[in-house]
Amino acid sequence: MTDGLPMSVPAPDLPRRVRIHEVGARDGLQNEKTVVPTEVKAEFVHRLAAAGLTTVEATSFVHPKWVPQLADAEQLFPQLADIEGVALPVLVPNARGLDRARELGARRIAVFGSATESFAQANLNRTVDESLAMFEPVVALARAEGLHVRGYLSMCFGDPWEGPVPVGQVVGVAKRLMDLGCHELSLGDTIGVATPGHVKALLTALDEGGVGTESVGVHFHDTYGQALSNTLAALQYGVTTVDASAGGLGGCPYAKSATGNLATEDLVWMLQGLGIETGVDLGLLTATSVWMAEQLGRPSPSRTVRALSHQEQ
Ligand code: HMG
Ligand code: MG
Repeated sequence: MTDGLPMSVPAPDLPRRVRIHEVGARDGLQNEKTVVPTEVKAEFVHRLAAAGLTTVEATSFVHPKWVPQLADAEQLFPQLADIEGVALPVLVPNARGLDRARELGARRIAVFGSATESFAQANLNRTVDESLAMFEPVVALARAEGLHVRGYLSMCFGDPWEGPVPVGQVVGVAKRLMDLGCHELSLGDTIGVATPGHVKALLTALDEGGVGTESVGVHFHDTYGQALSNTLAALQYGVTTVDASAGGLGGCPYAKSATGNLATEDLVWMLQGLGIETGVDLGLLTATSVWMAEQLGRPSPSRTVRALSHQEQ
């Protein structure tokens, strides 16, 4: 390798380009014990955009008591107005959340459902049926106004209360979420228990159930160090949208044992090595995560961030 980049050696049958859906500012910061100042979040999002990420999930319009870490969404979102050519999706759970996001001019939203009853209850205070009913008018109104809608589905592989989640159960809820009118589906391995064969099995079952790979993204948490292998399995299946979080920040405050997401730097290192385009400048991204780690007062868990930042010293 040279200049902090891996040697590029393409492998057969992989996509030529991958869109990284960056979730550090939302999934990452929602799980921090301390509330990060709004100005730091704004700088974080600006730096992620400057590093070449084309989709940077910015914040959530959820109940401020449920996620106090993101209670400043109204203050943060206007500070991102000068960012051009970068999609800035926000999470909205219900009509109130959509109203708040629309007032600020958000053009991309994400609703977030669960494949299991336990997590639907813990995260949304609703059953699976009730949460889908809550999303229905949100997706309909958002679509009528030309907004792009992502549907997250959590606990696609395992659930901390219910254990392994049957593939058929996941496909059933995924289809209902897509039938509401979501443009894309992100498959959440909220607690990081997936392994590559399981990923292929779920993608195959979704495909057979009518949810095509072109509308599917993958969202792996890295609890057991499997996120990158799972991503490669998804790429081999034809997935081209991968969620990741700068520096490996992340988790979910309502799912015990959810740790950080797949680190964006680790993902970019692998994709660059495979000759897959992402548009991301790994040096700028790593510098951003090093800076963010300083703000948070602890080192980044990303192996690539550590390797590249030691190398720079
Ligand atoms: P609830 O307590 O059932 O709310 O919470 P409610 O509908 O009964 O309303 C109670 C009050 O809250 C009302 O006020 C509402 O107006 C207000 P009152 O009339 O009593 O004065 N309210 C709101 N205020 C501001 N913004 C809102 C809002 N909604 C209601 N949007 C609720 C239900 C959905 C609101 C709550 O459960 C919630 O906010 N949950 C969000 C939890 C969350 O953000 N979790 C993390 C994101 S998911 C994740 O991380 C997983 C993911 O990364 C994928 C993966 O890894 O698997 C996406
Ligand atoms: Mg997540």
